[in-house]
Amino acid sequence: MSNIESVLNETRVFNPSADFVKQANISGMDRYRALCKAAEQDYAGYWANQAREHILWHTPFTKTLDESKAPFYKWFEDGELNVSYNCLDRHLATQPEKTAIIFEADDGKVTKINYRDLHARVCQFANGLKSRGIKKGDRVVIYMPMSIEAVVAMQACARIGAIHSVVFGGFSAQSLHERIVDAQACAVITADAQMRGGKVMPLKTVVDEALAMGGCDIVKSVIVYQRAKSDVAWNAQHDVWWHELVAEQAPTCEPEWVGAEHPLFILYTSGSTGKPKGVQHSSGGYLLGTMLTMRWVFDYKPTDIFWCTADVGWVTGHSYVAYGPLAVGGTEVVFEGIPTWPDAGRFWKMIQDHRVTTFYTAPTAIRSLIKLGGELPKQYDLSSLRLLGSVGEPINPEAWMWYYTVVGKERCPIVDTWWQTETGCHMIAPLPGAMPLKPGSCTLPLPGIIAATVNEAGDDVSDQHGGFLVIKRPFPSQIRTIWGDPERYKKSYFPDEMRGAYLAGDSASRDKDGYFWIMGRVDDVLKVSGHRLGTMEIESALVANPLVAEAAVVGRPHDIKGEAIVAFVVLKGSRPADAAKAKELAETLRNWVGKTIGPIAKPDEIRFGDNLPKTRSGKIMRRLLRAIAQGLEITQDVSTLENPAILEQLKEVIK
Ligand code: WT7
Repeated sequence: MSNIESVLNETRVFNPSADFVKQANISGMDRYRALCKAAEQDYAGYWANQAREHILWHTPFTKTLDESKAPFYKWFEDGELNVSYNCLDRHLATQPEKTAIIFEADDGKVTKINYRDLHARVCQFANGLKSRGIKKGDRVVIYMPMSIEAVVAMQACARIGAIHSVVFGGFSAQSLHERIVDAQACAVITADAQMRGGKVMPLKTVVDEALAMGGCDIVKSVIVYQRAKSDVAWNAQHDVWWHELVAEQAPTCEPEWVGAEHPLFILYTSGSTGKPKGVQHSSGGYLLGTMLTMRWVFDYKPTDIFWCTADVGWVTGHSYVAYGPLAVGGTEVVFEGIPTWPDAGRFWKMIQDHRVTTFYTAPTAIRSLIKLGGELPKQYDLSSLRLLGSVGEPINPEAWMWYYTVVGKERCPIVDTWWQTETGCHMIAPLPGAMPLKPGSCTLPLPGIIAATVNEAGDDVSDQHGGFLVIKRPFPSQIRTIWGDPERYKKSYFPDEMRGAYLAGDSASRDKDGYFWIMGRVDDVLKVSGHRLGTMEIESALVANPLVAEAAVVGRPHDIKGEAIVAFVVLKGSRPADAAKAKELAETLRNWVGKTIGPIAKPDEIRFGDNLPKTRSGKIMRRLLRAIAQGLEITQDVSTLENPAILEQLKEVIK
């Protein structure tokens, strides 16, 4: 626990304004405490009530929580529903004309689609999937740009009970291949290309490359949405154009009613081994989590224009782009491009143009926009905003203050939402009409979420001390298993020491008010620009290069990205002879990692040594590498080191 240092010196407190409290869905701390109490007194009853209130069930459930096969929990198991029905059909009678999605393309072109038309398009595409023989339980990989079609593809899978696995468009052919094979997907939905910052980036070519890597015979369909009219190779055996597939399809499609535990999707994320984990989510519990948090944390109102900037390739884009906002019947913005193009005012212009009320983005985006134009928001009319959100990594108090004052004009509460791919929805986050905010803290657990900080033995640590963040009771939206690897699920999240609590992999401390302050990952996972990357994954990519004998990857604090990636590499031959050679090699290896995993995983810096610092038993001493990467004086005990001389070599920075 020695590396967990608490940083509890932030004393500013921001109370929600009286106006905000008055209109909030949950007003005041008493309401919050009452909900917490209800959950405490009758845990299952509390969740059952929520599930009945928020979800439209085709067959009502009679069992709420089954813990008999813990940690393989089952929620609402005998209930039947369809997630797409809950997101679309339920709004058809009441608000068919309401805009569901305002899509803004990279080039600024805006397309709006209302609930009636979105429903029709989802149905048509669902029928198209069925015409390709895709059915309930089949896995479908989605590798698409941010678009209405990406949401349609996900919703259509949900409609027919197919399990989607969205792969972020920035991942390489190899990463895509690994995910297609692991999930044994029978179809891939993609686009010819994606547009980002004025550039055309191929997607279909990457899919072709992935399929050519072998072991993908099970893929019978590659459905291609034409986005950029770019040239693509065509394999008539399995390739089919999106527009041709839907052309003759009926605009209605009876939803497939599935059990609440039927997997809605798999989403791969990094852990502490080289192989990404396929996080498997349920239908009922997951949907409940997204709907509840839309109402509680985002204080959703029918008049809102909601904008979550996350890509659908990440869990945030699942819960708060593809599902949550539609399930509550909202209007949301979906954006194809990047925040810095054509200039760093893009987000602010879009908030102005679309009259966005609720804006949800990542600290890394906020920090880069401060750097590129801290005054820019002042040039736009941001008066439509009423609530701001942050997600993906701790937000530093300076960035929080800027967001609060310059973007929110001190009118808008900021919801700093702590959660993970595995939790499906917010876990620790402010209820904006109730909680006083402290910059840098995600505040208190949502009602019914029993979060705590514990030591290695699983015992509670007292406030103002660091500990492992755990969630002590099962909750509806949580991960059900790791696809194809239940043992790894148990080992990663429910190790024996934690005595049944869910181990999040973060460290945190609580202040005197019980507020949580997240300090970062305690496993070998980095958060680089909010993206989750396993150091082992990057290491295995490096050692797969024929030049590399050994590699160790660590994180280093970075002003904008949160963390930067530093790789220490031992070559098979000798160390590069001079700086020029080292630079050239470093570039080669950076590109190699970009090609193997994806550009987001490229190391920011690579250092070469004749060896790595190891204990006599051969274990790499990462603590030392982290210190070296930060240019810190090494104060740790190095007496157990096999080869202390190596430290000097690794301190050398290539200029
Ligand atoms: C990890 C999960 C949450 C959806 C997007 C990321 C870090 C996330 C916060 C926050 C401090 C945060 C944690 C967590 N994290 N939100 N508000 N404050 N840290 O999902 O890729 O699964 O990453 O992101 O370290 O474990 P993810």
